[in-house]
Amino acid sequence: MFSRRKFLKMTGSSLAIVPLTFPIAPVESATKQLPTRPIPSSGEPLPVLGFGQSAAFRKGDLALSTELLDILIEFGGRFVDTGGSSQRVLGQFMNQRNAHGELFLGTNVFSSTEDGILNEIHQAQQAQGKKNLDLVQLRSLADLDRQWSKLLQWKEADLTRYVGFAMSRWNYYEPVMALMETGTVDFIQVNYSMLEPEAADRVLPLAHDKGVAVVINRPFVNGRYFSLVSGRQLPEWAQEFDCDSWAQFSLKYILAHPSVNCVLSETTKPKHAVDNLSAGFGRLPDESTRERMIGLVRSFTKEPG
Ligand SMILES: NC(=O)c1ccc[n+]([C@@H]2O[C@H](COP(=O)([O-])OP(=O)(O)OC[C@H]3O[C@@H](n4cnc5c(N)ncnc54)[C@H](OP(=O)(O)O)[C@@H]3O)[C@@H](O)[C@H]2O)c1
Repeated sequence: MFSRRKFLKMTGSSLAIVPLTFPIAPVESATKQLPTRPIPSSGEPLPVLGFGQSAAFRKGDLALSTELLDILIEFGGRFVDTGGSSQRVLGQFMNQRNAHGELFLGTNVFSSTEDGILNEIHQAQQAQGKKNLDLVQLRSLADLDRQWSKLLQWKEADLTRYVGFAMSRWNYYEPVMALMETGTVDFIQVNYSMLEPEAADRVLPLAHDKGVAVVINRPFVNGRYFSLVSGRQLPEWAQEFDCDSWAQFSLKYILAHPSVNCVLSETTKPKHAVDNLSAGFGRLPDESTRERMIGLVRSFTKEPG
């Protein structure tokens, strides 16, 4: 069974078990809890970093999923993006740890019909063991107005505490912004990073104005970011905002945006989970440093590594 002692061992004194290739402040991270930002529609505090749909969850690998989720909870994290096959293992984890209140699950539903969405909600309730889901995130734009009004009724009937829309493509931005204008959206999930900064133009400011919680996906553009930075030296000035790795460089850039509530990253590796969650501690870059960061990463796209 995973314990705080084992966690400290893994992240600190026992590098032979999980060799870390980056300097982090592990003991401090393990005892401190991630900072939180309030969900605008309720004031409920949400930790600033969470997990995407790891292949470990999708494949139903209970041992690896347990290791990853224990690390998330040790750091004080809560948000896990889920849906479809990845929910079963999360339910198993919460049952074995009695941790239904500790994880905040963002459930993606893909159907575009009332029956289909309701069916996915019922399957999620069963798999997760949560009668009242934390968050249902629509994924389909088809017949959106009608499906959204049904979703609001199901929220009213306590099938879910929050409702939102999850997307990662710019052609979804306009219809989702129109939805945000209704003032009924609790959450959006959207792609945003130094390599995909477009959401900062209009989506993130509108979310801020309308009191919508923002969860960010694709912080590493599904790994493409690492193929750009790999083998390169982290600049010394990254220390000015307590950044110890290229992963943290991206996550801290995103977290410094004032509209962002929580950033999701996806990993199958416990040492990467520790690296990513460590980005929640210490200082964040100011606006002029963020300009410098994006300039640096853009220069990598133009020159060979
Ligand atoms: N709603 C939507 O339309 C949508 C679309 C895309 C994504 N999402 C959500 O957002 C989540 C994250 O986005 P994403 O899938 O694009 O993944 P991502 O988090 O941008 O990148 C994941 C990749 O980065 C690697 N990685 C993670 N941490 C690392 C670290 N510290 N050092 C080195 N490599 C590291 C992972 O490999 P390892 O396994 O080796 O660590 C994996 O290859 C998804 O899981 C999903 O939940 C939603």
